[in-house]
Amino acid sequence: MKELPEWYYDEFIQIGTDYASEEEVRNYDRKMRTIRDIADEAETMRKLIDLQPEDNVLEIGCGTGEFSIELSRYCKKVLALDISQGMLEFAMKKAGERNRDNIGFENAGFLTFEPNGKEFDAVVTQLVLHHLPDFWKLIALRNVNSMLKDGGKFYLKDVVFSSGIQDFDSYFSQIFKNMPPEAGDEIVNEMTLHIKDEFSTFDWVMEGLIEKAGFIIEKSYYQDGFMATYLCTKI
Ligand SMILES: C[S@@+](CC[C@H](N)C(=O)[O-])C[C@H]1O[C@@H](n2cnc3c(N)ncnc32)[C@H](O)[C@@H]1O
Repeated sequence: MKELPEWYYDEFIQIGTDYASEEEVRNYDRKMRTIRDIADEAETMRKLIDLQPEDNVLEIGCGTGEFSIELSRYCKKVLALDISQGMLEFAMKKAGERNRDNIGFENAGFLTFEPNGKEFDAVVTQLVLHHLPDFWKLIALRNVNSMLKDGGKFYLKDVVFSSGIQDFDSYFSQIFKNMPPEAGDEIVNEMTLHIKDEFSTFDWVMEGLIEKAGFIIEKSYYQDGFMATYLCTKI
């Protein structure tokens, strides 16, 4: 792991939901498999980065491992990073149960991972970058850029707010009001924490950060005023 100066942001301190707790890790995995279509998300990711059998892929913030496991079926090797040891242990166990032996796991993140000369064909990350304030997002994105081969692909999905929304009070109260009852209190609490304590930014800020980090945004998709997906190429 990288030696960093005293003034560096400590990415190992969990903000928002605490993914260090074992119970939270199990809850997260259960919740995500209930409310998300993991197979469909993984296929979209794989198609967008045009994953090839000889590719080496880095996933940053792998959580409980679903996406690294899916991608590993279609490429040479995946290296999965997470700052939560609990998440990594859970993901490792799951990868073993699904007989995947081409995934490496490492306890590191955007700011602390040391590639030691490795260069990846693609880097993917979803629902992770909002854990860093904007200044550190740019440092993180520049790190990602430096780990990619020339022309390498970068897939980024995260909560990004639309700057077109004029009245965030009514926007968020509408979202909470329209939440399907099956989503339950847990999701409402998580969203509340996200808006209040985490560092999701605006669409124009995120686009600027990605470009300043040395990428071309090839495709961008915005959904429901708060979710964004970018396919980028290193220039
Ligand atoms: C909301 S979960 C997303 C997990 C997974 N990517 C998914 O889509 O389900 C956020 C994950 O990012 C990890 N994380 C938070 N900050 C990080 C950082 N700076 N670098 C790498 N991972 C980080 C957390 O430990 C957690 O596992």
